[in-house]
Amino acid sequence: GPRPIVVLGACFLDYIGYVEGMPKPGETRHSKQFAKGFGGKGANQAVMAGRLGAGVRMVSVVGNDGDGQAYQAELAKNGVACDTVFAVNGAASGLALIFVDRNTAQNEIVICPNATDALTVEFLRSKTQNYKQFLHGCKILVCQNEIPLATTLDVIKAAHEQGVYTIFNTAPAPSAEDAARITPYLQHVSLFCPNETEASILTGLDVKDAASAFEAVKKLQSQGVADVVITLGSQGYVIGAKGSAPQHFNSVRVKAVDTTGAGDCFVGAMTCFLNKGKSLSDACKLANICASVSVQRKGTQSSYPYPNELPPELSA
Ligand code: RIB
Ligand code: NA
Repeated sequence: GPRPIVVLGACFLDYIGYVEGMPKPGETRHSKQFAKGFGGKGANQAVMAGRLGAGVRMVSVVGNDGDGQAYQAELAKNGVACDTVFAVNGAASGLALIFVDRNTAQNEIVICPNATDALTVEFLRSKTQNYKQFLHGCKILVCQNEIPLATTLDVIKAAHEQGVYTIFNTAPAPSAEDAARITPYLQHVSLFCPNETEASILTGLDVKDAASAFEAVKKLQSQGVADVVITLGSQGYVIGAKGSAPQHFNSVRVKAVDTTGAGDCFVGAMTCFLNKGKSLSDACKLANICASVSVQRKGTQSSYPYPNELPPELSA
């Protein structure tokens, strides 16, 4: 049936090797610790919102292999509708090869989308009656940048024309060429949610602190975006809600052990709180608390909090 939150994006298996220092070109390193888990930015966001009790649907493609079936079961376990997660023959499910440096908690990621590349406009339109199957009853659409860009842009436009609030988290950072393809679609984006690197690529400004993020907010809004949230890593985040001056907020300070997927935790939780009727700044504040829990634990989805692990104001 219809779900108010629809996430269009990737389901990847994450293979994480924890290392003491990143390998240099030509170098082999030993990892003393390994984790396999469910990842992919879209599914991460869907699972975080699902754990918080939101009505969520995932739209994606996996391989017709064991990983794909395991992924569908995992989404269902987290309350995410997955009859629009299609399994295709002849390709492995998408995966991500991740190194996490145990000294700095920083990561390096190579994504292999594999079956996800089958998620073309033609494929998705034909499988879902021109998106009706998931846009019917949808209030908020959430997209990232791990599936074919043409599909993301076509769905954002269709959703926005039907009155859906569209959220575009442009991670991982688009190439300059892809950024140029995104610009004409910014008028269909209700909430644009980049980090500082992505904001720089999209605006041509050097976004590195709150002041430069304020400029980027103004530029994005002049290009047709309604609301903007720019995350600034350790410097917190900047919110530009339509019609009011941009504001800067600090993040909750914690000791991070693994930041992989923290941005997705933030976006998924923020979406859930927006759907519950919270203001953009309250939704971001609560989402930031969720993300601060996730960075203190290893793994991506495996580190995302359940309601009983959160302060009462978040689980209500
Ligand atoms: O944002 C974190 C995610 O990026 C990981 O789960 C990995 O799959 C990559 O897509
Ligand atoms: Na984590």
